[in-house]
Amino acid sequence: MSKTFSIAIDGPAGAGKSTIAKALARSLGAMYLDTGAMYRAFGLYMLRKGAANDPAAVAACVNDVDITVEFVDGAQHIFLGGEDVTTAIREPEVSMAASDVSAVPEVRTRMVALQRKIAEGHSVIMDGRDIGTVVLPNATLKIFLTASAEERARRRCLELEEKGRPVPYEQVLKEMKERDYQDSHRAASPLRAAEDARHVDTSDLTLEQSVALMRDLALEAIGGAK
Ligand code: DC
Repeated sequence: MSKTFSIAIDGPAGAGKSTIAKALARSLGAMYLDTGAMYRAFGLYMLRKGAANDPAAVAACVNDVDITVEFVDGAQHIFLGGEDVTTAIREPEVSMAASDVSAVPEVRTRMVALQRKIAEGHSVIMDGRDIGTVVLPNATLKIFLTASAEERARRRCLELEEKGRPVPYEQVLKEMKERDYQDSHRAASPLRAAEDARHVDTSDLTLEQSVALMRDLALEAIGGAK
């Protein structure tokens, strides 16, 4: 595998994108970029200003925010004006703030440029909502990863429980559906599958099965692209 390759993984919240992408990147020796973390960092910045759902305020702040990504022992860390916010951006209230700011075109333009710059010259696996459609339109492989909303909510509940922060299933399901609706109905780069994306539904697959399936698809695509 001497040539670099790129794999775009898009899909709704909680489909397993980041867990699968991380495992796949490790197994293929590629860089993994979690683009949602970048929107989350911007969302956190605007949340702290109390203006995450004010598009005009968000657009006005787009060039004030200093967001950087670093890789520490292969793990992605995200910094906001030098502060490591890797953990803070996982707070539940940041999810909707990230979705809010991500609908603002100026934010998307800046994030997409940053994402392409980080990935330049590397074999990369990126996950998000617009990777196959906008960020990496010529990706070696595009995957649209889904699972039923109920299964995605069930997994998210387990994750929160393991973190010692249980949230009722009905609440998780409701918030997840709201965010998916907002992400797929915005005007700027809405969540949708690229025309040439392979669709993978993980509802009935274990994590190991999902990774194995994606690895097969990746090797087939990389082989074909050489
Ligand atoms: O993947 P995530 O749940 O961490 O993403 C948080 C929000 O960021 C998501 O609701 C929509 C937005 N997002 C986006 O618009 N484009 C991306 N490439 C990644 C995330």
